[in-house]
Parts: sequence; structure tokens; C-alpha cells
Amino acid sequence: MTVTAPRLKHEVKDLALAPLGRQRIDWAGREMPVLKQIRDRFEQEKPFAGLRLVACAHVTTETAHLAIALKAGGADAVLIASNPLSTQDDVAACLVSDYGIPVFAIKGEDAQTYSRHVQIALDHRPNIIIDDGSDVVATLVQERQHQIADLIGTTEETTTGIVRLRAMLNDGVLTFPAMNVNDADTKHFFDNRYGTGQSTLDGIIRATNILLAGKTIVVAGYGWCGKGTALRARGLGANVIVTEIDPIKAIEAVMDGFRVLPMSEAAPQGDIFITVTGNKHVVRGEHFDAMKDGAIVCNSGHFDIELDLKYLASQAKEIKVVRPFTEQYVLQNGKSVIVLGEGRLVNLAAAEGHPSAVMDMSFANQALACEYLVKNQGKLSPGLYSIPKEVDQEIAQLKLQALGIAIDTLTVAQIEYINSWQSGT
Ligand code: ADE
Repeated sequence: MTVTAPRLKHEVKDLALAPLGRQRIDWAGREMPVLKQIRDRFEQEKPFAGLRLVACAHVTTETAHLAIALKAGGADAVLIASNPLSTQDDVAACLVSDYGIPVFAIKGEDAQTYSRHVQIALDHRPNIIIDDGSDVVATLVQERQHQIADLIGTTEETTTGIVRLRAMLNDGVLTFPAMNVNDADTKHFFDNRYGTGQSTLDGIIRATNILLAGKTIVVAGYGWCGKGTALRARGLGANVIVTEIDPIKAIEAVMDGFRVLPMSEAAPQGDIFITVTGNKHVVRGEHFDAMKDGAIVCNSGHFDIELDLKYLASQAKEIKVVRPFTEQYVLQNGKSVIVLGEGRLVNLAAAEGHPSAVMDMSFANQALACEYLVKNQGKLSPGLYSIPKEVDQEIAQLKLQALGIAIDTLTVAQIEYINSWQSGT
């Protein structure tokens, strides 16, 4: 039986924003040569012809290039937002107007609209799902088991989504192949580290316009995102304190030259707090209570659960918007705490997310992961799959080529040497 998906329209803020979106998408393309090469090949080979695809991602200029590449490859693609505050409305408008891609995403959409868009995406009956945070996949598993038969597989962009997929695997509910894009080297070494590092500080600066030199910045979490954020904060002259729960990562932070403290001790010292842990209530009541007057808190982890803002609101006599994406919680104890981007990803809420040059590699992984799923349709058993090493290497090679950087190759003698064990000292 052939099931035809209902015809989808779009839900974007204002189609009149399309020309601005076009200009910004074109600009981003200058830094995305790897994805461009993949798109050109997809245009010829049409690997997704006849397939329905849903992408749930931050709707940015970079995501636009991914969506355009997938459409060029023949996909019947629909795009929805993976976060209520990360959509660039001009980009959403341009994808609808100029590229005919149905987009359901409006910056500032409420939770109900966000969930409705997830349902609309699933109404498309996807054969492939690109997810960022696993909201579409989790909804499919919980509410639309009957549609799993349509699915070739899914791809996941971010650490939080991978944690959720692993939990699904442990619970025995991951009954289809899922590609782990986040853990590809050409993804997390660059996107999580340099992308989050730069864009998080960009978000804080755009939201507040404050000088970071000389400030004490507390970075909660020393995964790849935390490493990049701490590195760039130090680069701007801040004194950086790292908090961790993992002893190995804590030693790494110490040996990278950072002070490591429990949050309870960091709380009264910090001027700015940035959470990048993926866990909930990393900054909570006891920490807010201990903070200096005027402390700034923000989050760059996937979900808005890292700061216990319900507690903060319960202590506030007033919450005032003092600048775009900047709210002052005036507390009953006489102090204020400043919250950026409503505790959502500050780099996407108050700035434009990771720069295009890193998303080039992340989205090259996404595009090739989708192609891999299609090429291996029927051969992959349910589970979480790494991006094949050759794909990762190819993306790195293409990026180097595009940057005009040549590297050495092994000599025959060197290949023999590393493949032998007989000769030592
Ligand atoms: N995640 C972080 N930054 C991003 C960007 N610029 N585009 C899409 N997803 C992102």
C-alpha cells in the first residue's frame, strides 16, 4: 500500500524577510565548501529521490545549506525548529519562498507551537529523520510506533540527543538504525569546541555588551563544549573557573590551567556563569542565593534545564527585560541576577549559533550519514552507529583542500613500520 503524506504548507514569521535571508544564506555559503561539493554531487546522483525527510534543527543560514543540499539530492524535505528561540526568521522565509522547502519555525514560538511543529513533521511520514536533541525521534517512539515501518533511519546532531538515544537503546525501544553524527571527529572536535566556544561568548557579548577581560567566568562542564568555552573566555582575558562532576575531565581542566571548584564555592566568585553540561539544575537555589549582585547566568547546553529558573522566579519581586535577550531578576533579598536568552542556548538565542566554517563539517556529516542510511537500507540492524572512519577522514581532507592546506603522506617504509611489531628500540 502506498501512503501519501498530506500536503504541507509552512509556518514562518514573515515571508517578506526572504531577501534578507537569501543574502545571509549566500554569505554563509562562502565558508561551507565541503557541503557545497556534496550538494553538487547530490544534484547529479539524486540519492534521496522519492524519499521523505524531516530535519529538526536550529533554523540558521547553515542549516539552510543542509536543507538545500538534501533537496538537491531529491529529498522531499520538511524543516522544523529544534529549539523555540534559535530560528532565524529571515532564513525560514527564504527557504520557503526561494527554495520551496516547507519550514515550520518561528523565533520565540511557545512550547505548544513547538510540539505542534513536531507533530506536523511526523505527519510527513518521514523515511529519514535528522534530529538535533532527539525530540522528533522520542515523539515517534512514544506516540507513533506505527510509523517506524516507514523509517530507513535517523541521524542525531548533538550530545544531548545521543544521551537520549543511548537511553532508548538501553530501554529496548530504539528499533531502527540511528547515526551518531555528534561523535564524528570532524563534528565534535570543531563544532562542539570551537563553534560553541566562539558563539557562546558572541551571544553573551551581543546580549550584554560587557567587557569580559578581568571578569570571573564560571564554566560548568568540561566536555568539548566546555573546553571550547573556557578556552575562548580565557582568550578574552577572563579568569576562568571550571566546575565538573567527572574526575578525569576535572584533572584535564586543571592541567589546561583552569581553577576547578565545586559550584557552591564558585557561586560567590563568578561574574558570569555558563552551563554546558547537558544535565538539569546545575545552577540551582543554593547557588543563586550565594551569587554577587548583578551576576549574569546563561546556558549553552541543548535544553533550558541547566539553570533552575523556576526557583529564581520564585525569589523575584520583579523580572524586567533590560536589553534584548537579557532579563534582570530583582530578588526579594535585594540583589539581582541577570538571565540571558531565557536560559536557552545563548549562542543561538542572542547570536547566530556556530560559525559556518564548523557547521560545514557537521552538516557534511549529516548529509553523508543520510546517504549512508539509504545506501545500506535493509542491511543495518537497529542500534546506534558511528559515522564510518572513511567518511570522517574524507570530510577532513575536503576541508583541508578547501582551505588550501596540504599535509604529508606516509612513505612505504613508514607504512611497513607502523604495521609491524618486531622492531623496538
Ligand atoms: N547548532 C549550533 N550552531 C548552529 C548553527 N549555526 N546552525 C545549526 N545548528 C547549530
